[in-house]
Amino acid sequence: MAFFRKASDVFGLDIGSSAVKALKLKETGGTYRIEALGIAPLPPDAIADGSIKDSGTVADAIRSAVAKAGVSGKETVIAICGRELIIKKIQIPEVPPRDVHDVVQLEAEHHIPFAIDEVFLDYHGVGKHDSLLDLILVAVKKSKVLEYAAVVEQAGLRPSIVDVDSFALGNQFELNYPDDRHEAVALIDIGASFMKTNVVRGGSTIFARDIPFGGNNYTQAIAQQLKVPFEQAEAAKLGRDVGVRWEAVVPALEAVSRELSLEVQRTFDYFASTAESERIGRIVLAGGCSLLPGLNDYLSSNWGIPVELARPFERIEVDPQYTEDVNAAGPALAVAVGLALRRPGDKAK
Ligand SMILES: Nc1ncnc2c1ncn2[C@@H]1O[C@H](COP(=O)(O)OP(=O)(O)OP(=O)(O)O)[C@@H](O)[C@H]1O
Ligand SMILES: [Mg+2]
Repeated sequence: MAFFRKASDVFGLDIGSSAVKALKLKETGGTYRIEALGIAPLPPDAIADGSIKDSGTVADAIRSAVAKAGVSGKETVIAICGRELIIKKIQIPEVPPRDVHDVVQLEAEHHIPFAIDEVFLDYHGVGKHDSLLDLILVAVKKSKVLEYAAVVEQAGLRPSIVDVDSFALGNQFELNYPDDRHEAVALIDIGASFMKTNVVRGGSTIFARDIPFGGNNYTQAIAQQLKVPFEQAEAAKLGRDVGVRWEAVVPALEAVSRELSLEVQRTFDYFASTAESERIGRIVLAGGCSLLPGLNDYLSSNWGIPVELARPFERIEVDPQYTEDVNAAGPALAVAVGLALRRPGDKAK
């Protein structure tokens, strides 16, 4: 019964395509501390093309991450990303608050490429001018949410809150950089399969889009060029000694970084065409792939704006037992941090 449940019992469960991360944060007087953290890897084909192919393996990884973390609660905050998710800024005529919901329902049909009864809709206001309301509309295929909810339940847990990777990224950023409110900042989480972009200003999302591109593209390029299996290419990419010289890997890495840069550039060009000449002041990279040596410098020189790595634990207390995991995974935990900050009944972003 929700009524008797302690609000702080929820924890973040980031089901990524390469690993599941379970993170619980404890808040005392506005200060956060890690209470539990566990990471469990996933084989590359368990979640592929943005969908769960092998729910048994994913459920096992969820159980394993949760067991490593040592959390006993069952209420989780999960997130969705990918093609079945549409995030768009829309404008509707200014109407009384109680009518906004209905107007958004009607308006949404013009903005999303799916049938309206196939999606869950959500929205939040970002501004008001000339008798118009600016809203961020979020539409996600019901089938996608149900697919992720089912695997969480299969692991014996409950999905209490379903968020969006890019919003979690924004949530995390707001906690860690509270003073950074004046310029538009592009947050990019580069995971194994998807880049999640979220352009924020003054604590609000003004643009968000997921791009099917990530660390796997690098691994596949290495595997192809050097004719080695995916697992060996992945290890070589991470600088492990698997009989592949780093110099042999570099050309593949460079080629993929060029592609990645173009992909993001295309997305920002699209953003520039939709957002009243808003300039992006800087870029903050997260996700495991952001740890690729030299990637931030390369992107910074390509785009001519500062690119830095996210520090998701900048304002979170990290006890010594977690230091090693936090240092190793660092920016890869940004989405998990954003999810772990959520509480039932809080204002969704
Ligand atoms: N030190 C590193 N150098 C290069 N790449 C790295 C490093 N550490 C992790 N990666 C890559 O980061 C990716 C995993 O990042 P992350 O954990 O953010 O992804 P995910 O959440 O599982 O995936 P997604 O969000 O796309 O579903 C993998 O492709 C992995 O090879
Ligand atoms: Mg991820």
